Amino acid sequence: MLRRTALALLAVAAAGPAFAQAYPTKPISLIVPFAAGGPTDVMARIVGERMSRELGQQMIIDNVAGAAGTIAMGKLARSAPDGYTIGIGHLGTNVVNGAIYKKLTYDLQNDLVPVALLPSNPLLVVTSNQIPAKDLKELVAYLKANADKVSGGTAGMGSGSHIGVLAFFAATGTNYQLVPYRGTGPAVQDLIANQIQIMIDQSSNSLPHIRAGKIKVYAVTAKQRNAAAPDIPTTAEAGFPGIEVAIWHGLWAPKGTPPEIIAKLNAAAVVALKDPEIRRKLEDLGQDIPTPEQMAPAAFTAFQKAEVAKWTPIIEKAGVKVE
Ligand code: MLT
Repeated sequence: MLRRTALALLAVAAAGPAFAQAYPTKPISLIVPFAAGGPTDVMARIVGERMSRELGQQMIIDNVAGAAGTIAMGKLARSAPDGYTIGIGHLGTNVVNGAIYKKLTYDLQNDLVPVALLPSNPLLVVTSNQIPAKDLKELVAYLKANADKVSGGTAGMGSGSHIGVLAFFAATGTNYQLVPYRGTGPAVQDLIANQIQIMIDQSSNSLPHIRAGKIKVYAVTAKQRNAAAPDIPTTAEAGFPGIEVAIWHGLWAPKGTPPEIIAKLNAAAVVALKDPEIRRKLEDLGQDIPTPEQMAPAAFTAFQKAEVAKWTPIIEKAGVKVE
């Protein structure tokens, strides 16, 4: 596999600027590290479809779910660096997993090149409609009294929903059994069916079900209330400060992808996030849209590095690891 990647790298380098200039001449595969229907998948489809129109080539979604995105990022790192395979990831897959998974077969910062920062959304504390609590304080009391009866869904260790659980446990002193899913799309379906009782879930995944009355919401993990759902109190307002987590997303390409191709992909992502219709869709899901300056590859690289420096000691202190 490595030999094939090295050969592909040589082929891209040999083809030179003409190759980058003509790019893209065929469909682009967009690897999504979680199950279809979940927040990362929805973001990939909304942004990818608009990027496709801009690039004049289709972006084909490739859901490579499992192990909190580590399988997908490994596949991306080993792909040919020719711009025809890129991946979407987030704070969990491209920062936190580096601290948790001690045996990753790739280096998150050195084997993947940042293409564009994408929107960020807070998490929501949500439960099935069967949970009797009326607010976050009652929910925390309920969880403490019923710890053995409650299961919470996550998309695996290191996923956005798991980072949320770690912050929630630390701030509330609760602890319940965690059930790992291939993504929070399937997990929220089980929440609706009360197969699991609680999630600390991205707003983009939960909001449609909250609006439809299928699940209950208690708080948003942010300093400020979210414009898409201003009735939901912040965790601090609801009595538990210190649970502030936003899950930002991004696009990456394999190391060795020509900078001209990265620039073309970045420009298409910028156009996508300037489109009023795309902005409306994303903002309605609680997403906060970055500026073109924040999206730029160099700024995104620096941001990812700062996030690694911020989160690595937090994860190490929490003692969360997979060896
Ligand atoms: C997903 O797309 O399923 C999520 O991003 C999972 C998560 O990180 O919680």
